Amino acid sequence: MQGLVILLVCLTVGSACAGSVGVSNADPFEREGRIVGGQDTTIRAHPYQVSLQTKKGSHFCGGSLIDAETVVTAAHCLVGQKAAKVFVRLGSTLYNEGGRVVAVRDLAYNEDYSSKTMEYDVGILKLAEKVEETEDIRYVSLAEETPPTGTAAVVTGWGSKCYFWCMSLPKTLQEVYVYIVDWKTCKSDDYKYGEIIYDSMVCAYEKKKDACQGDSGGPLVVGNTLVGIVSWGYACAAELLPGVYTDVPSVRDWVLKTSKAL
Ligand code: ARG
Repeated sequence: MQGLVILLVCLTVGSACAGSVGVSNADPFEREGRIVGGQDTTIRAHPYQVSLQTKKGSHFCGGSLIDAETVVTAAHCLVGQKAAKVFVRLGSTLYNEGGRVVAVRDLAYNEDYSSKTMEYDVGILKLAEKVEETEDIRYVSLAEETPPTGTAAVVTGWGSKCYFWCMSLPKTLQEVYVYIVDWKTCKSDDYKYGEIIYDSMVCAYEKKKDACQGDSGGPLVVGNTLVGIVSWGYACAAELLPGVYTDVPSVRDWVLKTSKAL
């Protein structure tokens, strides 16, 4: 019940969930903190992954580096945030040490973002300095088309896997493989969401595997292309309730335009 209440809050007020740890996972006995059903990975395997953090170093969302000074994340990670208070750790497998931490000069999220429906859950951060590519830091390109249902994709992050009260996040980056489910299929009777799935979303599913609280804003990738942004889900890794992502092709133009303007 507790989980359900928080989940409803998460769905209706996306921002309330940015950085929240403690809900999710269909199995209440699984208390380990990480992407659900995933495994340890390295930043070198996913060098576009970044951690959004407070000045004190608490991780609150994921993000993806798309060029020398731009990070793509979820709008619900940025609502109520000020650029001066957000820091980005790049190039580290651990969210709490290593790589480099860069300040943020500006941020914006999509004007069509709705915390009610979670449509257009996308935002960008402009870094205070330009970051060059290294073995551990790379730019990812934005997908122009949604891959067909059934395409294998990987989602990564430092998010939680805890159902009730898990206080800590995994320090090591986690990865999990899931399969793309296009929005129409995700909305169909094959799954349990129904009408709350919109065309600016894309789902990804695999039994017992999913992103979870704290992974928001992070990358869903096929090849070296960003196809989704971790946005929401009912619980995590629950039967026939896929993870729901912002469909990158639907927001690509907004990202490119806004990135130029800031
Ligand atoms: N809204 C969550 C966050 O802020 C992400 C939830 C993703 N959930 C899922 N079942 N895939 O971190």
